[in-house]
Amino acid sequence: MKGVVLAGGTGSRLYPLTKITNKHLLPVYDKPMVYYPIQTLVDAGIRDVLVVTGGRNSGDFLRLLANGKEFGLKHIDYTYQEGEGGIAEALALAEHFAEDEKICVVLGDNIIEGSIASAVNEFQQQERGARILLKKVPDAERFGVAEIQGDRIVGIEEKPKRPKSSYAVTGIYMFDHTVFEKTRYLEPSARGELEITDVNNAYIREGTMTFSYLEGWWTDAGTFDSLMRAANMVKESREAKLKKPAAAL
Ligand code: DAU
Repeated sequence: MKGVVLAGGTGSRLYPLTKITNKHLLPVYDKPMVYYPIQTLVDAGIRDVLVVTGGRNSGDFLRLLANGKEFGLKHIDYTYQEGEGGIAEALALAEHFAEDEKICVVLGDNIIEGSIASAVNEFQQQERGARILLKKVPDAERFGVAEIQGDRIVGIEEKPKRPKSSYAVTGIYMFDHTVFEKTRYLEPSARGELEITDVNNAYIREGTMTFSYLEGWWTDAGTFDSLMRAANMVKESREAKLKKPAAAL
């Protein structure tokens, strides 16, 4: 499976932090934000990675990440999103890279504690369709929210005023090659973007969407509060890991 990190967009919710740099280059505790989604893919055994960037600072990604040596990679692919037409528009730019293989997409501001290796393995076994990862949250109205009946997702609503569940759709998505065909039929939403939720709903209508629940904490880092929360969570996990061997003695 190939991996795609979506790191385009303007980061307007973090202005003025994003006035002179790209949101995904901002620090989250001791690393630039974009390191975390790349590490998530690498930890799941993915070695072919595409980073979709945008804006005026896209060249800085190349200077920062180069060929991915820090992640044990031999090479990183890059592509450029002109404008900020939405997550699904950024994803559509990965068609050439995917070459009909399955892909695992991680949003550039999504940071997790655990691993997605088991979900990636399960999706490898899945003949076709898509797989998403859900997380129970106290503020579901900030996210795409899954409506679940039994063991099936029957729909996803993007930032609903009255969420039908407390399960957020995290920014980690696995798709088969038909995803690119699906992006061709999308219409811009009220916020003027091609929405990833519309792509996911196309798979749900087709009956090929599966899901798992994400273990460990998860956060986005696209607002002042979530950026701060992300840094604190990374710091606490790091410290907990350092303490573990001593406690085990
Ligand atoms: O974090 C999970 C949520 O991410 C999901 O629950 C939502 O369904 C999904 O729509 C998305 O919501 P946000 O409104 O928080 O997405 P945001 O506009 O902040 O974009 C998230 C990342 O996607 C961003 O860090 C980079 C990438 N992106 C976004 C846009 C709008 C692009 O690469 N290009 C874009 O044009």
